[in-house]
Amino acid sequence: MEDKKPTMKNIQSYLTNFMKKRCEALFKDFLPPTYIPLVQKNSIGDSEFTSPCATQIFNMCNKKANWQYTSIEQLAEAIIKDLKDEQGMISEFKIVVQEPVKKDDKKEKKKKDEKKEEGKEEGKEEGKEGKKKKKEKQIPKNVYIDIYISTSWAENEAQNILQNGITLDTQYTNKHVAVDFSSPNIAKEMHVGHLRSTILGESICRILEFLGNKVERINHVGDWGTQFGMLIAYLESINPNYANEPEKCGNIRDLEEFYKNAKKKFDDDPEFKKTSQLKTVDLQKGDPEARKAWQFICQISRENFEKVYKKLDVHLTEVGESFYNDLCKKIVKELEDKNVVVEDKGAKIIRIKGFKIPLIIVKSDGGIGYDSTDLAALNYRINTLKADWLIYVVATEQSDHFKMLFKAGEEAGFFKKGEVRLDHMGFGLVQGADGKKISTRKGGSFKLIDLLEEGQENAAKEMQERNKKYKDEDKMSDEYIKEASEKLGTSAIKYFDLKQFRTTGYKFDFKKMLDDKGNTAVYLFYSYVRICSIYRKLNLSQNDIDELVKTKKIEIKEKSEKNLVNHLLLFNDVIDEVLKDLSLNLLCDYVYGIATKFSEFYEACKIQGNDSRILITELCKRLMKLSFDLLSLTPIEKI
Ligand code: ARG
Repeated sequence: MEDKKPTMKNIQSYLTNFMKKRCEALFKDFLPPTYIPLVQKNSIGDSEFTSPCATQIFNMCNKKANWQYTSIEQLAEAIIKDLKDEQGMISEFKIVVQEPVKKDDKKEKKKKDEKKEEGKEEGKEEGKEGKKKKKEKQIPKNVYIDIYISTSWAENEAQNILQNGITLDTQYTNKHVAVDFSSPNIAKEMHVGHLRSTILGESICRILEFLGNKVERINHVGDWGTQFGMLIAYLESINPNYANEPEKCGNIRDLEEFYKNAKKKFDDDPEFKKTSQLKTVDLQKGDPEARKAWQFICQISRENFEKVYKKLDVHLTEVGESFYNDLCKKIVKELEDKNVVVEDKGAKIIRIKGFKIPLIIVKSDGGIGYDSTDLAALNYRINTLKADWLIYVVATEQSDHFKMLFKAGEEAGFFKKGEVRLDHMGFGLVQGADGKKISTRKGGSFKLIDLLEEGQENAAKEMQERNKKYKDEDKMSDEYIKEASEKLGTSAIKYFDLKQFRTTGYKFDFKKMLDDKGNTAVYLFYSYVRICSIYRKLNLSQNDIDELVKTKKIEIKEKSEKNLVNHLLLFNDVIDEVLKDLSLNLLCDYVYGIATKFSEFYEACKIQGNDSRILITELCKRLMKLSFDLLSLTPIEKI
């Protein structure tokens, strides 16, 4: 019988639990039962983890009767006194006192606080943390308990992962998740907002799938609405025989233009307007001719979307707005029966407390729109698909819509609070590099596919530039560059998007995306290629590596080795943090951290002839590759 695979530890939750038990045992009569001591990754110094629990507890309990501690330090001493961790993960606790500092007392602070000094070598990742600390400076005094991870524990854990692969220790598993992402509109071009949604959605799906969740990748395309009557009428006016002569339908391949022309005719020609309105009615009634024309238009849009998805290596199942048509009618009835909707100037609406605008369930002309469709979709996903986690990857502009939607769903009784996790995974706006509306070199109406092709061209240009400097035997062929630049171009675009703090916007800048020295996919692929090429230089085959994994041990001697291995072991913690707030940037920080810490290790440690270091290198390689897969980045062999 096969043994159950050992899991990769979630260090942070282990330590949190450990501290929680300790604090409970010591301060049982003083702490509220819900108290959980915060244990965080520490990006300063090399302790890896730190907890401000002594400060928290002291502030909470100081005024209570029978409280015997007179200072935070004294309390911290009590917590760590004779503390032993049976598992052997922890090697040491240290108390770090952060003296009160005035806001601008920077230089003073530097001298006093060694901890901060050490942090300087930690690289870019610390930018954000630095800001946080600055704020904390205003807090009168802070006492931290720093926790050090045992070297032998880290060696064993690393070895374990190498030998047995990764099984994560996570709560985010065994869920049925419906992820609504990409979701462009038929007969319109996908815009960069859809690009963000597609990139973020794909990656979050990959992570959820990796953890063994059942994931529905739903493309909620906008394929329904009154505009379709107009488009059908216009299509038929150009070529009634459109189905057999798809190429003779004016500029239908350029749907945005087609849409504009139809709209112009609609506004200028009253007769056409009437026909359009009748077509809408036909379509809604299910008239076969109208449906056929609608299908035809949807199909052309779909082919355009597919080109983008193929380039991005993204997989989606289309369940568009039209799918919920009949369900919408049922929902309206149900909502009326439950008295959730009210009449308002001929329309049926749901008012949600705290929001100025209502959700419109039936428009005054009897039509069904975005809001009711979403409500029907929410109900369908929860009660028919039986999903217990819904994620909507849609721009933050729509955050009120989703807040109201979730509230309305609850009020309608589609789910009970706490039964289903609902996330609007919002994201900020993308602008052009100049801060204006994004455009492509090709001009005309914006097309996402042009943007992706431009990414590839830029990547190819950079590769050709570098190629000039390569020795003859190292030169990349034109054919190789053509193929690899597509992967590099799209990966660079994706990584630049994923590494951003999700809810803030960014400027779309090819130069920055392809910078081989910045925090970019190019830089990451460089370091990955370098890791892979070490084996070639050392004349090691994959078989040799596999043999080493089976027979040799990881032994950590140098500081850079310890830093690197400690960082690698955070993988599970990182995945957990990513899923807490759906922050993919944390996984980007992690993989960037591997690259920078590997390069410090490589500078400081000779790998040749040292089996342990080869094993550490192998672990880096695997965890980098895994992170790339989860972020949907495709590394190339040569850059
Ligand atoms: N089609 C919409 C748009 O382009 C996005 C749909 C998002 N998903 C949803 N269930 N509302 O803005």
